Amino acid sequence: MRLLIKNGTLINAEGLTEMKRDILIADEMIMQIKENITDEYDMMIDATGCHVLPGLIDAHCHLREPGFEYKEDIESGTLSALHGGFTSIACMPNTNPVIDNEALINYIYDRSKQINRTKVYPIAAVSINQEGKMLTEMGFLKLAGAIAFSDDGKPVESSSFMKKALLYADTFDGLIISHCEDKSLCEDGVMNEGYMSTVLGLSGIPKVAEELMVYRDVRLAEYTGTKIHIAHISTRESVDIIRQAKNRGVKVTAETCPHYFTLTEESCDHFNTLAKVNPPLRTSDDVIAIIEGLKDGTIDIIATDHAPHHNDEKNVEFSYASNGLIGFETAFCLSYTYLVKPGHLTMSQLVSLMSFKPARILSLDAGEINEGKQADLTIVDVNERKTIDITKFKSKSSNSPYHGFEVYGEIKNVIIDGKVVL
Ligand code: DOR
Ligand code: ZN
Repeated sequence: MRLLIKNGTLINAEGLTEMKRDILIADEMIMQIKENITDEYDMMIDATGCHVLPGLIDAHCHLREPGFEYKEDIESGTLSALHGGFTSIACMPNTNPVIDNEALINYIYDRSKQINRTKVYPIAAVSINQEGKMLTEMGFLKLAGAIAFSDDGKPVESSSFMKKALLYADTFDGLIISHCEDKSLCEDGVMNEGYMSTVLGLSGIPKVAEELMVYRDVRLAEYTGTKIHIAHISTRESVDIIRQAKNRGVKVTAETCPHYFTLTEESCDHFNTLAKVNPPLRTSDDVIAIIEGLKDGTIDIIATDHAPHHNDEKNVEFSYASNGLIGFETAFCLSYTYLVKPGHLTMSQLVSLMSFKPARILSLDAGEINEGKQADLTIVDVNERKTIDITKFKSKSSNSPYHGFEVYGEIKNVIIDGKVVL
């Protein structure tokens, strides 16, 4: 099968940003990239007016299978990811049972291969049952296909446990992803501690609860000489801690999510549980700092933290509502609209944040459009304006605070292993 993509503007993370090129794909690989390819083909996509990007890669999502299939499963989650332009996603292990053993790693791969859509890479737990007491067999789990290790959803509370996890993972170049939160400082907080929490009469989660843990983990990585990836950072000080650590040569990488540069704690007004997420939405000053961090490379990637929840878990009093929002189908258009459109980032930088760098951090041979590479591509029309409509989402859940938002950027086609799957 030979697929020809004609007249698209090809964007890679580095190099020329505006490059009109045809792309010829044969079987699973990119065979040829040049102007005006006239070779024979079986199928042609006219990408005139569109950008052709390396397939988007999400390093942090929750697919909920096994155990919470009423929120999402691998079938619905990969359909949602595909419609968001993602060709590869890494899913977190806070399922039931927790993904802390080889059988479940195999299960995730088998199930996603049967479905044969967006590629799914399981992240295994750092501790058995995410209890922070016993390390998982990370070495064997990596051999079985675990792409990284995280107790996400919860922090690794003990510093000594985290130190041991980092040292163990380092022996086989494993990656630990840290959910940074000092639980003792969060107490019973349900949103950012500040003006809005006072107005609403809700208990707050202080920024320092995140920042202390970011500092701890960065220092532990520095002390042990190991690498670490910090999940979903949300505050100015977290950005500063990582910036300084990078300047000292610490092997730290970091991610943020679209909600931390598009929304603030104000979204929780009227007790809007759709804006309840952990870490919580912060202030406009934090949003500015997150954008600065994305601009100067302190923050390496944008991940969705796609966290589906059932309506019944959101249609309750704010304090009782589940944390999290779904993100696959809004990540690209929000990032384009809030970062590229106002001129904070170039398209090339956005591709770096959503494809090239996630691939490097997860050690995937993906994230670039070059001859000889696997043909995972996302074709987008950034001129198309649309209104986000949560009733149209492919996800099983609809817990998104973005209903009615006007954005730019429509996912036109997704090509995975040379096949047009969207
Ligand atoms: O808001 C969140 N939801 N934060 C987390 O860390 C976990 C996630 C979930 O699994 O629902
Ligand atoms: Zn998460």
